[in-house]
Amino acid sequence: MSVIYDERNKTFTLHTAESTYQIQVDRFGFLLHLYYGAKTEGCMDYLLTYADRGFSGNPYESSRDRTYSLDALPQEFPMWGQGDYRSPAFMIRDSHGVYGCSLRYESHQIREGKYTLSGLPAVYADAGEAQTLEITMRDQNLGLKVTLLYGVLPEFDVITRAARITNESEEHVTLEKAFTANLDFVGGNYDTIVFYGRHAMERNMQRTPLEHGAQVICSRRGMSSHQYNPMMILTDRDTTEGSGRCWSMQFVYSGGFKGLIERDQYNQTRMQLGLMDELFSYPLSSGQTFTMPEVILSYSNAGLSRLSHNLHRCLRTHVCRGKWRDRVRPVLINSWEAAYFHFSADTIRELAKSAGELGVEMVVMDDGWFGKRNDDCSGLGDWIVNEEKLGCSLRRLVQDINALGMRFGIWIEPEMISEDSDLYRAHPDWALTIPGRKPVIARSQLVLDFSRKEVVDAVFDQLTKVFDQANIEYVKWDYNRGIADVFSYAAEDQGKVLFDYMLGVYDLLERLTQRYPDILFEGCSGGGGRFDAGMLYYTPQIWCSDNTDAVDRMRIQYGTSFGYPVSAVGAHVSACPNEQNGRITPFETRALVAMTGTFGYELDPDKLTEEEKEQIRTQIKDHHKYASLIMNGDYYRLTNAVTAPLCAWEIAARDGSEALITAVMRKIQGNMTVNYICLKGLTKGAMYRDEASGKCYPADALMDMGFPLPIEFGEYRGYRFHLVRMS
Ligand code: GLA
Repeated sequence: MSVIYDERNKTFTLHTAESTYQIQVDRFGFLLHLYYGAKTEGCMDYLLTYADRGFSGNPYESSRDRTYSLDALPQEFPMWGQGDYRSPAFMIRDSHGVYGCSLRYESHQIREGKYTLSGLPAVYADAGEAQTLEITMRDQNLGLKVTLLYGVLPEFDVITRAARITNESEEHVTLEKAFTANLDFVGGNYDTIVFYGRHAMERNMQRTPLEHGAQVICSRRGMSSHQYNPMMILTDRDTTEGSGRCWSMQFVYSGGFKGLIERDQYNQTRMQLGLMDELFSYPLSSGQTFTMPEVILSYSNAGLSRLSHNLHRCLRTHVCRGKWRDRVRPVLINSWEAAYFHFSADTIRELAKSAGELGVEMVVMDDGWFGKRNDDCSGLGDWIVNEEKLGCSLRRLVQDINALGMRFGIWIEPEMISEDSDLYRAHPDWALTIPGRKPVIARSQLVLDFSRKEVVDAVFDQLTKVFDQANIEYVKWDYNRGIADVFSYAAEDQGKVLFDYMLGVYDLLERLTQRYPDILFEGCSGGGGRFDAGMLYYTPQIWCSDNTDAVDRMRIQYGTSFGYPVSAVGAHVSACPNEQNGRITPFETRALVAMTGTFGYELDPDKLTEEEKEQIRTQIKDHHKYASLIMNGDYYRLTNAVTAPLCAWEIAARDGSEALITAVMRKIQGNMTVNYICLKGLTKGAMYRDEASGKCYPADALMDMGFPLPIEFGEYRGYRFHLVRMS
């Protein structure tokens, strides 16, 4: 049993393979958080301490006992209104404008399998793979029912959380804050790890000691954003890749969010993640239910690599869905950096022909094929093939591509609208703009009001007409600006627009992915601006960054790897000097970096030398050889890609039978010192043969002393070793 209720001390204990999570219903019916750590039996309420604390209020029932304060006790779902002055997870306002809530335990249920969330992405698991705990809480005065949902997936050391809020009163109430997950720790000596960034430089890993005060990461952009990824890690000060305790929270949601880690007055720590509370004020009329999006929690006491493996496995096999989930994805060439907006069907045919000769399997026609779209100032919203520009129908073009033995893919940006579009001229109120104000423009475009069903329906109709025309096998779903003007002409209350917008996006994603189960969907948002577990539920891969420079990409992919599997990382080889930063790197290095992802190309093959073309042929052969290992193996960060002069990573088969090690020199000097890289995940006591040189090495030495890299001239040289365990 993964979920156990003990009536004697009123505890819920959630067990995974290596961790235990414990909650207690206290004498007043409040839910206290007792423990999240290494797997153990027993009751951990001995961790709670009681003292008379000045300026920390007491609930009325305990007024003679000043040692009981929710301001000091670790809580499971802290609400505003019972004397806890730390950041609440939950705030509600009644019909008179009064804030306050007092949720008490009412009942619970334990079930086989994992709960689902209607209209929202979530981890999925069958009976036998997971158990669900539902705890029902009630505020009698408000007539409010709150159901806390827990999904326990023992195999991945993952616990998921979500919540449903139901207004069972006759009056309306307003939800002002909805943070799905809260973890209170009785200690305070931790480091935090967050992933910050910007367009073309996403998910930079930042580790800092937690001091007093709150560290907040968030997005108020209506998208998970380039600026902060909706994921956070808390670690002990001495936790490393291979040892020590760490806890993660990851949001299964693609809109605005807030994450907070705070060390409080009593040196305790609170960690929270949920919906962005600014720009959010969700009215619930009598009988209505609001579902909070899911947060994935994981714990490891074997360091950060183990934590990442938990998340990689869970996301790869229990968040990503569909036909392409477990398949090696086709090697594609994308027209964007090869032609930008300036192409016809002939350009795409030529790209397909020259790339196909080198072994590329799919050509993707990026932005510019629809409406009136020759630059980024017009056409969004008019999802009608521009046959005049192409010079033929889409069906004709795709038939020609297929006749070359290539698959065909296409780019869309369904949530957007250009002012210069037929759709905008017909329905100006379908754009998110505020009446009487000039809207904020970004990339010369506006965002469609996806909180309205008729808008989503209209886009669905347009897109299905395109997808039904031809044999389309891949779709890149882009999203190229954040939301600034939060106003829907159809909403009775503007505080719900941003959340309802995301429900509309998920509705369209669900409908299209169900209708076209064979299409491989790839998420994108100006590169990796919406790289989150919510999108991965619909698109098993996401374009990781518009930055395709191999050196920057190592840092971006390093940060991404903490929470997301390699199978999710869209990565391509592009031309040099790089279009984003002008850097020149060896062609081989660019391929080694892109191969730690879904792999493809973003260049014009006709501009390559014969030698480079030959390299592509070899790269694609290598890709096919290693793709399954890369997709399914355990990913290890061997060095810190932000600080180390050498960037190295490894993918080891889970059974230790083989390992692929990649290393790139980031800095070189005269009379170089030797770099040794220590390997991980090999079978102790075994010998491994390097496939290329035929040399054999003992696993324990490789993991302890490491492996010397050759001393060679030249910047950014890349190396790859394939080690196979000897029988
Ligand atoms: C975004 C994407 C690019 C490309 C362009 C097209 O920036 O990240 O890959 O598709 O849009 O406009």
